[in-house]
Amino acid sequence: MGALQLAPEWDRLLYWGAGAVTLLFVLLAAVTCRLLLAYLGKWKALKPIPGVRPCYPLLGNALLFERKGEDFFKQIVTNLEEYRNLPLLKLWIGPLPFVILYHPDAVEVVLNSSKHIEKSFPYKFLHPWLGTGLLTSTGDKWRSRRKMITPTFHFTILADFLEVMNEQASILVDKLEKHVDKEPFDCFLDITLCALDIICETAMGKNVGAQNNRDSEYVRAIYKMSDLIHHRQKSPWLWSNLMYPMFQEGREHNRSLKILHSFTDNVIAEKAHDIENHTQQKDDFDDNCEQSGPKRRRAFLDMLLSTTDDEGNKLSYMDIREEVDTFMFEGHDTTAAAMNWAIYLLGCHPEAQKKVHRELDEVFAIILRHFWVETSQKRKGLGLVGELILRPNKGIPKATEVIVVPYVLHREPEIFPDPEEFRPERFFPENSKGRHPYAYVPFSAGPRNCIGQRFAQMEEKAVLAIILRHFWVETSQKRKGLGLVGELILRPNKGIWIQLKRREYDFK
Ligand code: HEM
Repeated sequence: MGALQLAPEWDRLLYWGAGAVTLLFVLLAAVTCRLLLAYLGKWKALKPIPGVRPCYPLLGNALLFERKGEDFFKQIVTNLEEYRNLPLLKLWIGPLPFVILYHPDAVEVVLNSSKHIEKSFPYKFLHPWLGTGLLTSTGDKWRSRRKMITPTFHFTILADFLEVMNEQASILVDKLEKHVDKEPFDCFLDITLCALDIICETAMGKNVGAQNNRDSEYVRAIYKMSDLIHHRQKSPWLWSNLMYPMFQEGREHNRSLKILHSFTDNVIAEKAHDIENHTQQKDDFDDNCEQSGPKRRRAFLDMLLSTTDDEGNKLSYMDIREEVDTFMFEGHDTTAAAMNWAIYLLGCHPEAQKKVHRELDEVFAIILRHFWVETSQKRKGLGLVGELILRPNKGIPKATEVIVVPYVLHREPEIFPDPEEFRPERFFPENSKGRHPYAYVPFSAGPRNCIGQRFAQMEEKAVLAIILRHFWVETSQKRKGLGLVGELILRPNKGIWIQLKRREYDFK
């Protein structure tokens, strides 16, 4: 009886259920159709641009990519060199097309645009760690942040950081002492940990002592995270946020994320607490460098805690964390790699090293311009990725993602003859006259250029000068034995193997 009375409700329920399922199905079909149509539209529009082969529907070129970083880098560079004479090259990563720009004119259009400042899709995988800080944000948020943060890189503030750089470089030199007149050793990690200590202290005001404690949980988490992000960027099956934690990598990612964020959260809370309790200290760093009383070392974090936008609003803790994490990410691997490449090249080129030593002997405040510029072109492969809406008459459909590969751009033989030869004099002002301004852009260019360029150059000069003041560097490592890997930066997978001799003149 009861069952008979319920029957019409069941009917209704079934009716609604079937309706809902059909609606869901139709919606899904509509979304899939739309995505498919958009995909086909792009496929068709990009057809005239030559691409890497073979290329499969939906997967694109992703299956071709070598898994190991070293092989992947070799593969990308070989492919790009092969197509160098083409104005544009197309690459599909899964269903996403990327257009690679070779010519400085095209690079200029992208980097110089104040409208098309959005970063491309692969940067999304930095968001869990960096949020939308200066590197990853766009639009008004980026404009307002850039305006707020630019003064913190003023040279008078940077000058304060020189002390930290010198202190950390001296610790490095002490560590290197034990290698004098001994077997070759790999200096990559030593130099990297020095750069890490410098950025921790200058960005957060926190001495993590990485040089003497390479096993710190925070330090390990930074490296793990960079690795995971790079692998995720080139593996479409790891892209879904929903699915990612189902892979072991995704779980490792979340573990590292927790370590990184709780570390910065704690440092920010400590600093904010300090500032509240010491109004006098606050006055000290608010007064635009004219400090009174004993000098207190400021960090970027101190300045971020006190900076305001045009309406006088302060940054929230979350905003600050984004920026501190961004400095930590952008601010040490890059300089560490540049210093390592410089040491390697000087080890390979004793004549150039002698010149540096002569200059060091003459003036200690040396400008190492003639070799750091050369080495900083070893900047990461897929670094300068910008999203661009190019003029349709150029044959690139709207909102196509474009990639600039500095490693390849900086080796254009017509602009830099014999590009693999170490010729620092290429960058002398007299030899750079008339060169296309976008032919050499290690720090990017235009509105989204590197905000840390001066900081980086200062650190490189300070640390290299202290190392070279103490030691003569030699290496017998061949270019092939470096194991170049183009990850978030360009690094030598096999390390940088050098031998040290004490210098005749020691200015200690
Ligand atoms: C040799 C060292 C360095 C090199 C070669 C380098 C290179 C670059 C490049 C190529 C970009 C553009 C990235 C893109 O288009 O997505 C960039 C952006 C950036 N860099 Fe650096 N960088 C170095 C050091 C530093 C340091 C030391 C810091 C901070 C202390 C820093 C902070 C940043 C930030 C915050 C951005 C984003 C700027 C924005 O979009 O407004 N960099 N860097």
